[in-house]
Amino acid sequence: MDIKNFTESNFEFDEIARLYNLVSHDDREHVDDIKEGWAIIDKDRQRDRLFLYNRNTVLGYLGYAQGRDENCRNCYFNIFLDPQYNGNGYRQLLYERMLEEIQTFACNRLYADIYEHPNYDQFKKLLLNNNFYIGLKIRESSLQLENINLINYNPLLKKLDAKGIQFYDAKNEMLDFPDHYKKLEELQWLYSQDFPMPKGIAHTRNPFEQYMKDQKLFEDKHYGIEIVAADGDIYVGSTDIELFPKSDPFKAWTGSLGVLREYRRQGIATILKVKAFEKLRDKRVKQVRTDNEENNPMYKINVTLGFTPEPYCYDYQKVI
Ligand SMILES: CC(C)(COP(=O)(O)OP(=O)(O)OC[C@H]1O[C@@H](n2cnc3c(N)ncnc32)[C@H](O)[C@@H]1OP(=O)(O)O)[C@@H](O)C(=O)NCCC(=O)NCCS
Repeated sequence: MDIKNFTESNFEFDEIARLYNLVSHDDREHVDDIKEGWAIIDKDRQRDRLFLYNRNTVLGYLGYAQGRDENCRNCYFNIFLDPQYNGNGYRQLLYERMLEEIQTFACNRLYADIYEHPNYDQFKKLLLNNNFYIGLKIRESSLQLENINLINYNPLLKKLDAKGIQFYDAKNEMLDFPDHYKKLEELQWLYSQDFPMPKGIAHTRNPFEQYMKDQKLFEDKHYGIEIVAADGDIYVGSTDIELFPKSDPFKAWTGSLGVLREYRRQGIATILKVKAFEKLRDKRVKQVRTDNEENNPMYKINVTLGFTPEPYCYDYQKVI
């Protein structure tokens, strides 16, 4: 058995996709998407993929990344092992190798997330054996777009229109608005500070240059839809939803959604969703996915819109 670091070879990228897809109960990865995501990562933070080899066969890998700014002593990781090699202690080998490597940034907190699904039982065992505990429980939900009657929301849309709140498709209707990306980034930073977070993770702001790289990749390769609510020239709320046409063109994944505090409780979040669903339907998307902590008001909004439960995601953590 041998553990090797990531050299960014085509073989390793193919193996990452293969192993991920063997484990994932739900979404699928495409190697092109993994490569494109890796090409724009923030190089200032330590990260690696540790591959477990038996001669020339890769049995599994562990991916980890250091946190940003105040989170620079945090480490986020995940393990994907070919299930036929379960029960041999291989995850523990990878985990211990990671523990050695992350001493370089004096790591003091570890985070890993798994789903409420048998495919993750062995990883869960590793986490429990190493004294991890659940820091946040996230309800995953899905909505079949054919099941929602969007016309029911017309009265609310009219009410917001009368107040001067307009809704736009960010990529197709706003690129020539003054300071568009600056305003969009600022809006997302403001509302994201109210996202629930596991203990020990601070809200941090991406440098603008990194934000733009992520935004370009989203707009060029994964644009499902991004809707922005504006009050005159003030951006007051937004949602972005991603598509992965190479791995599953019919499922759309919600990124963020939020509304400025002073504009909440007027129905803006509800209409952001409804507008997004209209556009996704036009793209022949069948299902939309989202995730929320159940105490977040967004959870209630999603249930009202008709979202139904998928397996929970559990964010495990541990102080070291
Ligand atoms: C969650 C959030 C997007 C809701 O935006 P919003 O525009 O205020 O939501 P809506 O006005 O469409 O709310 C619709 C209904 O949801 C429920 N709701 C919304 N916010 C609520 C709150 N704070 N407490 C209780 N119920 C709430 C109410 O039933 C509301 O209808 P009502 O106002 O007629 O009672 C907003 O609070 C926010 O930006 N929070 C921070 C970011 C965030 O947590 N996003 C979700 C991440 S998963």
